[in-house]
Amino acid sequence: WRHDGVRQGDILRSRGQSLSGPEGQAEGKCANLEGGKPAPNDAVNLERRVGLFSGVALIVGTMIGSGIFVSPKGLLERTGSVGLSLIIWALCGVLSLLGALCYVELGCMIPSSGAEHTYFMTAFGHLPAFLFAWVSIIILKPAMLAIICLSFSRYLVEVFSSQPCEPPILGIQLLGALTIVLITFINSYSVTLATKVQNIFTAAKLLAILIIIIGGIVKMAQGYTDHLATGFEGSTDSFGDIATAFYSGLWAYDGWNNLNYVTEELKKPYTNLPRAIIIGLPLVTVCYLLVNISYLTVMSPDELLASETVAVLFGGRLFGITGQVIMILTVVMSTFGSANGSCFTSGRLCFVAAREGHMVDVLSYVHTTKLTPSPALIFNAIIALVMVIPSDIGSLIDFFSFTAWIFYGGAMLALIVMRFTMKDKERPYKVPIVIPIIVLLISLYLVIGPIVDSPQIEYLYATLFIVAGLIFYFPFVYYGKSIPGMPRMTKFFQYLLQVVPTNMPDA
Ligand code: ARG
Repeated sequence: WRHDGVRQGDILRSRGQSLSGPEGQAEGKCANLEGGKPAPNDAVNLERRVGLFSGVALIVGTMIGSGIFVSPKGLLERTGSVGLSLIIWALCGVLSLLGALCYVELGCMIPSSGAEHTYFMTAFGHLPAFLFAWVSIIILKPAMLAIICLSFSRYLVEVFSSQPCEPPILGIQLLGALTIVLITFINSYSVTLATKVQNIFTAAKLLAILIIIIGGIVKMAQGYTDHLATGFEGSTDSFGDIATAFYSGLWAYDGWNNLNYVTEELKKPYTNLPRAIIIGLPLVTVCYLLVNISYLTVMSPDELLASETVAVLFGGRLFGITGQVIMILTVVMSTFGSANGSCFTSGRLCFVAAREGHMVDVLSYVHTTKLTPSPALIFNAIIALVMVIPSDIGSLIDFFSFTAWIFYGGAMLALIVMRFTMKDKERPYKVPIVIPIIVLLISLYLVIGPIVDSPQIEYLYATLFIVAGLIFYFPFVYYGKSIPGMPRMTKFFQYLLQVVPTNMPDA
């Protein structure tokens, strides 16, 4: 899928612009455009614009999205008791932290963007990396964006619908689709704008979560602890139920690996990657546990199970109608920020995979002056728009977690394998080898448990889809055949979107 695209000079000349044109200056110091000099090979690159604060915001702000407002119900339903559900919330946090620590080792050892894709390439070669890119870019990442934007619009529609009846599905879908478009525009327009949006929304949602927690503490001090005191009554003993309870919880924690997708854009990656993870993960875990406890101070497990919008019920119990509106706005902000962060990192994955020749070339190009990977972002958005149509959030989440954990397990295996195959490679951070082994074993359980316990056709589809990637891998990647007419298409999209190829990062 490789061929030479039009380089930067041609595009700018076609617009009658110079390399130091006004847009370039407006967006900031373009590393490769500095002083108006063309970069080596006349190419542009993404820049290091993500600092520690934005790094933490990218992790925390993506992790805290829809899950904490949607999943408590799923977890309680599947575990059967308050005690067990809280334990699983905590274990999901610990598991994500252990996984993230392994990603610190991987990210500092191989400091290119693209996370799993890059690690699979280094440890196992092209095929596994391609299959990962295939599933993630075509299904996982767009599904994720669709799920979050649908949750966003469901809550937003709720504010405006005065009747107590179900809000109209079409309205929710349309609003979800609009949100996808808006977020993709923000991300394609400017990296700085996207990170600002991320920072502001993260701060706002943390504040809102603090309010929920304080509300809970006040209620507890007033003696509302009956529901919490039910403890482990009614706990399930089914292995499969516990695994799918983990799925609900892990969806809320998903995003812990987000910074690894953008390592090349991180300022001082060796310091900021570990710091952002050490700050972000415990922060989210504590927030989630306390929010769950707060919910249970004012509502019984049965009430929680009966409600689709737990947070709104909670707000209503505390402050009446004002509380409800505040909670709806909190969820809206939270999901919008999370969707923004997800879009940011998904674009990078597609960009890196295309750069390696695993997707069509044009997806690895960046805008000449905005320096954003706009073709990759737009591609991700188009698929997400299609996924808004089924709109069944629950099954999308199970499907998502099942497939995602195959790959997280794969990354653990990559770490372990590279300890043997790349013994001498410098590792600024090294985790004790038991950590990836534990995470690998748990991911095996998470993937196999539900298949054995309650086989669902979705799991088969997911597996078949992974295998179907081979149909594209052999002709187009392995044998390097090009799709007829592709060079022309590439040029067309280059002029349409004003994008050019990039350089590979320095190793
Ligand atoms: N944890 C988020 C939520 O609860 C979803 C994160 C999606 N994952 C990602 N890698 N962006 O809504």
